[in-house]
Amino acid sequence: MKIFSGSSNEPLAQKIAAQLGIPLSTVENHVFPDGERRVKLQDDVVGEDVVIVQPTCPPVDTNQIELCFLLDAARRSGARQVTAVVPYLGYQRQDHIFREGEARSLEVIVKMMETSGASGFLGVDLHSIKIPELFSIGVTHISALPLFAEKIHEFTDDFSQACLVTPDMGGIRRIELLKDLVGDIDFVSVEKDRDIVTGEIQVAKVHGTVKKTCFIVDDMISSGKTIAESISALSAQGGKRFIVMATHPVFSDKAPKLLQDSGAERVFVTDTIQIPDKKRFQKLEVLSVAQLIASSLS
Ligand code: R5P
Repeated sequence: MKIFSGSSNEPLAQKIAAQLGIPLSTVENHVFPDGERRVKLQDDVVGEDVVIVQPTCPPVDTNQIELCFLLDAARRSGARQVTAVVPYLGYQRQDHIFREGEARSLEVIVKMMETSGASGFLGVDLHSIKIPELFSIGVTHISALPLFAEKIHEFTDDFSQACLVTPDMGGIRRIELLKDLVGDIDFVSVEKDRDIVTGEIQVAKVHGTVKKTCFIVDDMISSGKTIAESISALSAQGGKRFIVMATHPVFSDKAPKLLQDSGAERVFVTDTIQIPDKKRFQKLEVLSVAQLIASSLS
């Protein structure tokens, strides 16, 4: 097996390679003054199972194109199989049409990866369980929930005063899976309304009994508004401690400040997306998905 990294998250690719016990192969990656990119794999891949690691986090389009170029390079250079390891998949929230006249953007992205040369795809905590159905190649879908379950047990084993919370009705299945890993703990769901144009959100209703300690679990944090609004709503219903867990730290806009200033005690995320120093904050702790990815590749 040969493993290569695009430029969006080389530290994660290094960790995956170390877990697999193989060196990370290098890529010559050049960006011309006009913004065009040229990539060249610097290792022989003939007959090899090739893994390309490249989350398509912001800048999403740039990272997506780079991924496609790497997939194409691997296929053209004679790889036996090419697996796109995309720990965070950009455009995954556009997996269906919301309003007439829109594109089904994720389907376009999937086609791009497949026609570029991917013969397999590995994703982490995809936004919807239906996303694998968009692919015609094999999909491995892994989850960071076991890492979060472990952390929850470090906080408490007395679940009479604790609950799991999904801050989005679309996350109920995720919370049910986490409950299976954690044990006898109740869960609460927050119903939110988001303005599809402005992105502003409002909590419409909290379903279930809010306990003193709330473990709020989501697939991603982008603006941070879902988390901040949920904490306010849970607080109004008796919640006192808020521990936030989300797989993908997209952290756009002012999310780091919003989270640091929120009532959250800790914010756990994973390294599916590399977080620049300027977006790190005191309450943040990053867990690694490298071992989970490596075990499903080996
Ligand atoms: C919603 O569909 C997702 O599960 C997240 O709740 C959402 O994407 C978080 O976005 P933001 O941080 O911008 O509120």
